[in-house]
Amino acid sequence: MPARFQAPRGTFDVLPDASAARAHIYVTAAHAFERAGYGRIETPAFEDTELFARGVGESTDIVQKEMFSFEDQGGRSLTLRPEATASICRAYVEHGMHRLPQPVKLWSWGPYFRHERPQAGRFRQFHQIDLEAIGTDSPLADAEAIILLSDILAELAVPGVTLRLGSLGSHATRAAYRDELIAYLRSHESELSDEVRSRIDQNPLRAFDSDHEGTREVMRDAPTMLDRLSDEDGAHFEAVKSSLDRAKVAYELDGTLVRGLDYYTRTVFEFTSDVLGAQSALGGGGRYDGLVSELGGPEVPAVGWAAGIERILLALDSPAEEPHLDAFIVAPESRRELALEIATQARRAGACVDLDLAGRSEKGQMKQANRSGAERAVILSDDGSALLRNMTTGSERPLDTGDIQGEIAREQAETSE
Ligand code: HAM
Repeated sequence: MPARFQAPRGTFDVLPDASAARAHIYVTAAHAFERAGYGRIETPAFEDTELFARGVGESTDIVQKEMFSFEDQGGRSLTLRPEATASICRAYVEHGMHRLPQPVKLWSWGPYFRHERPQAGRFRQFHQIDLEAIGTDSPLADAEAIILLSDILAELAVPGVTLRLGSLGSHATRAAYRDELIAYLRSHESELSDEVRSRIDQNPLRAFDSDHEGTREVMRDAPTMLDRLSDEDGAHFEAVKSSLDRAKVAYELDGTLVRGLDYYTRTVFEFTSDVLGAQSALGGGGRYDGLVSELGGPEVPAVGWAAGIERILLALDSPAEEPHLDAFIVAPESRRELALEIATQARRAGACVDLDLAGRSEKGQMKQANRSGAERAVILSDDGSALLRNMTTGSERPLDTGDIQGEIAREQAETSE
């Protein structure tokens, strides 16, 4: 027997009974984005590896160990996108979007790829909705972005949501703070985990993220960026908070919030749900004022976020959905073609109609009609007559065979009134 294939580790199939809940998230987000003036952008699923190395940051886990990279036939290194922001900034520069009225407000959704250790809520191919406002340093843009994600999660009724909010300051203040943190970590080197110790110079902020008990102990007394914000960064952060207050979006201040990507400046945030396990982040983002210029574009400030569809689905714990059917057509052998003709016309008129395509007996077709959850069955007879059966009450009435599709449509309209 030939070997049977399985979806690769960390990936999954979306089967029909799970697709409606997923589509509901996309559609809810898309409407929210459109109401707020964000336009949809789609970028390729793979890019030059260098884009992510520079964009996401050489010292991040994503670039160091999680990228699916490959060489194409021409020896060029390409990478399946691990996130959207670098690609969207690349597109912003490539298409000269800095010449448009600023900010350019964009959203996207699609699959992303990270070679992580699979576990509940963590996959190697997962899906994000993503929002970016490029070309403004206004704190209103930070607040708008955060409010939108908060409202989307509220509209979806995601339970147990908390928003953690912090600021990393601008590049200049962050550099001074970084030096202070490196000195602090050096003075506690022996208490830190090997991983944190080996990355003190490269990425000292990641020490706040460590699960290692000794490191956590050291980090409890570490200086945080929130205590070291410059006046300007502090005022920016105050303005973001004030807009969130006015929008009645609750948040917890968190001076230790570290994101897994290097490009952040000033505002950073993360939405978590307490019904999720270890992978509790529903979505997160922040301001990234240096990224567009880092990718060869002009000095342009920007802010954005991404949320994980699978995390939202897990938090919602949505039940599998039955497809809706207005009618199921049951036909004897001699009327099979007529059955398809009626189904086609009724579908063209907007009704949801199904029929047997596997040569079942009429009894078998009635069983199938029952199983399908259809509201009614249209039962065709050899003599050309037809009955309409209400599947809930069992009542039957004759149908006008000249206009069966019209009768289905009228019945459907009556029940949906
Ligand atoms: P991120 O925090 O890396 O940010 O990812 C955003 C969200 O994607 C996470 O909160 C989580 O819900 C989901 N996610 C990430 N990795 C996985 C995984 N392996 N399996 C399942 N879900 C996952 C970014 O990607 C930034 N680009 C966000 C951003 C946009 N910042 C500014 N603009």
